Amino acid sequence: MEFSVTATDAPRIRAGCLVAGAFEGRDPTPAYRSLDAASDGRLGAIVRKAGFRAGAGKHLRVHALDGVAADSVLVVGCGPKGAMTPTRYHKIARAAAQAIAATGARSAAWSLGDVEVDGRDLEWKSRVAVECLNEAAYRFDAMRGEADDDRVPPPGRASIAVARAYRNEAAAGVATGRAIAAGVSLARDLGNLPGNICTPTYLAGEAKALAGRHPSVRFKALDEARMKRLGMGSLLSVARGSRQPPRLIVLEYRGAPRSHAPIVLVGKGVTFDSGGISIKPSATMDEMKFDMCGAASVIGAMEACATLGLPLNVVALAPACENLPDGNASKPGDIVTTMAGRTVEVLNTDAEGRLILCDALTYAERYKPDVVIDVATLTGACVIALGAHASGLFSNHQPLADALLTAGEHAGDRAWQMPLWDEYAEQLKSNFADVANIGGREAGAVTAASFLAKFASGQRWAHLDVAGTAWRSGKEKGATGRPVGLLCQYLLDRTRAADRTPAPAA
Ligand code: BES
Ligand code: MN
Ligand code: ZN
Repeated sequence: MEFSVTATDAPRIRAGCLVAGAFEGRDPTPAYRSLDAASDGRLGAIVRKAGFRAGAGKHLRVHALDGVAADSVLVVGCGPKGAMTPTRYHKIARAAAQAIAATGARSAAWSLGDVEVDGRDLEWKSRVAVECLNEAAYRFDAMRGEADDDRVPPPGRASIAVARAYRNEAAAGVATGRAIAAGVSLARDLGNLPGNICTPTYLAGEAKALAGRHPSVRFKALDEARMKRLGMGSLLSVARGSRQPPRLIVLEYRGAPRSHAPIVLVGKGVTFDSGGISIKPSATMDEMKFDMCGAASVIGAMEACATLGLPLNVVALAPACENLPDGNASKPGDIVTTMAGRTVEVLNTDAEGRLILCDALTYAERYKPDVVIDVATLTGACVIALGAHASGLFSNHQPLADALLTAGEHAGDRAWQMPLWDEYAEQLKSNFADVANIGGREAGAVTAASFLAKFASGQRWAHLDVAGTAWRSGKEKGATGRPVGLLCQYLLDRTRAADRTPAPAA
């Protein structure tokens, strides 16, 4: 979708569908007031007759108003005036964008920038508009041979309407939104591709293509031989059961002097997770093609970061492999040696994410990172704990956890912190090796994080379990692009916060 900024008054904007906000209790927004006046009170009369109450996210479409240039006006409810939190604005913006995408209008105009939001400026509101419109217009048709007639095409263009004095602010928001939207769409595309196409090699090819588009990004990929030499026995043990060779994808973005320690993002890239010998039930196993969404999200965040040219150094690492059963696959009870030298008893081959991430976390140490953040569709237990509303956040460094929580709130891509107490790590004791790869039924998301924490000690580290947020199931099945929004917001925030926090004791 093409985005632009317009300073035209609402009644004179030409568009297939123009969005204007209304508060509960007949309290108009400036755009709504001007549309009502231009239509000689027709808009208000229709809205009243329809019994529209302006609850947050509710909407009503009014066609062909005399005195209004747009073909239709979409009145969007904003709830009671004066209670607009960023989270509520996000909810309203998402609802409005979904409604526009369903109208079949060829072009959209957005005048919800005149709704006051606590602590947020027009740049932020413009950016949110672009992200939400892009999210709603997203289609995944790469694998279709025939057009999908059941879905109306989304608008091809959208303009963000603001008062003349705010043009630059809005344009800045649109530029940021566009970059983040591109990162989100890339992550969704990679996630939605089937496992037979999106293999570790394919994922590496896409990362390489990204580096080709951005001179500030360098690509490399470690192959099996290199992993063997580095002693990544844990990552390699997962890849053993597949004919697809594993890759450790590396993207290095340079936006600051070399002396600046990088932010390292690590994304789980299991391109298909059958469970291995501890095989999963078949009912929804197709969804395990999404098990590389962590990798897709760090690649998507890199796309946005490089497009924005952020003054930071950022590294994305994506260990990528398939988890399949085979004569050569790992078996329950097998013991593998990690790059860190620690031995792991593989009691369940379906707990493979932590087995590839631990070696990637050890590899991350060579960058002497400022912080390390891993993103992984790690546990079904996290889906049970938090559902689709928040990603699970775990960290050994509270200032980093706080920064990520704030970034998630700000970006409409929330996380919720869970504990990492020593008591949980007790569950990972093994009778035969240094550690077991599972910790029993209780607190499955926490014991998985505790396993990773053992490989991140001495680093400022956080882990995002996105098993519940990275994709939707059922009728709306598909990758969401989360947590690209959160990651991008964190990176943007880091360009502002100059202060660094001291490293934790190892
Ligand atoms: N990729 C899965 C996690 C997952 C499962 C995400 C279902 C979303 C929905 C992961 O590799 C896995 O299989 N985890 C196991 C761990 C268990 C064996 C300790 C799980 O959650 O069942
Ligand atoms: Mn698994
Ligand atoms: Zn998995």
